[in-house]
Amino acid sequence: MIFYANSHGMNTNIITIPPQSSISYAMRTQKNKHHGGVLWFTGLSGSGKSTLAQILQKRLFDEGCQVYVLDGDHIRQGLNRDLGFSPHDRSENIRRIGEVAALFADAGIIVLCAFISPYQEDRNRARLAAGDKFHLVHVNASVELCEERDVKGLYRKARLGEIKDFTGISAPYEIPHDAEIVLDTAQHEVEYCSSVLYNYVRTHLFF
Ligand SMILES: Nc1ncnc2c1ncn2[C@@H]1O[C@H](COP(=O)(O)OP(=O)(O)OP(=O)(O)O)[C@@H](O)[C@H]1O
Ligand SMILES: [Mg+2]
Repeated sequence: MIFYANSHGMNTNIITIPPQSSISYAMRTQKNKHHGGVLWFTGLSGSGKSTLAQILQKRLFDEGCQVYVLDGDHIRQGLNRDLGFSPHDRSENIRRIGEVAALFADAGIIVLCAFISPYQEDRNRARLAAGDKFHLVHVNASVELCEERDVKGLYRKARLGEIKDFTGISAPYEIPHDAEIVLDTAQHEVEYCSSVLYNYVRTHLFF
C-alpha cells in the first residue's frame, strides 16, 4: 500500500473514525476485576520513581492484576532512542509515552509510568491522552537528597559538566500542583510510600 505524506510529513490517508473493537473496555475490566489506569510517577532523578513502581507492580501482579511498568531507561533504548534531552525532545518523549500509556489503560491494564517528566505542559498532555484514567504521583525529594543518593552517578557527571541539561542541576523541574498523590521520599520509608500507592490503587481501580 502507498501512503501519501502532506507537508508536515503526516499520512493523509488515515481515516479518523476509530476502528471498531469486538472486545469492549467493559469486557476487559470484567475479566481483569479492575479498571485500567495510568499511574504517572514524576520527580527528580533519584527521587524513587522506579523503586516504587517496581514494588507496586510486584504486589499488583501477585494479586492477579494486569500491570506493566514503562520506565524512562528502557523506553529511551527502544521506542524513543531517536530522542535526546533538549526541551523539544523531552516533550516528544513524554508525548509518545503518554499516548502509549493511554492505550495500555484502554486495554484494561494498570500501567505504571516512571519518567522525570519535568514540564507541566507535557504532563498535562499525558493526562489529556488518558482522560479520567490518569493519576499523577509526585515522587518528591529535594535535589540535595537526590544528589546525595546519586543512584546512577549522574549528578556527579552533571556537576562535572559531562551531562548537559540535567534536571535539577542545569535544566528545570516544574513542581506539579495537580498530583493525586504526593509522596515525600525524604520523610517516608519505601514501605510506607508503597502502601500509600497500593491503597490508592485498591480504592480507585479495584471493583
Ligand atoms: N521512600 C522511598 N521511596 C523510593 N525510593 C527511596 C525511598 N527512600 C529511599 N529511596 C532510595 O532512593 C533511590 C531512588 O532511586 P530510583 O532509581 O528509584 O529513582 P528514580 O526516580 O527512578 O530515578 P531516575 O529518574 O534516574 O530513573 C533508591 O536507591 C531507593 O532505595
Ligand atoms: Mg528510574
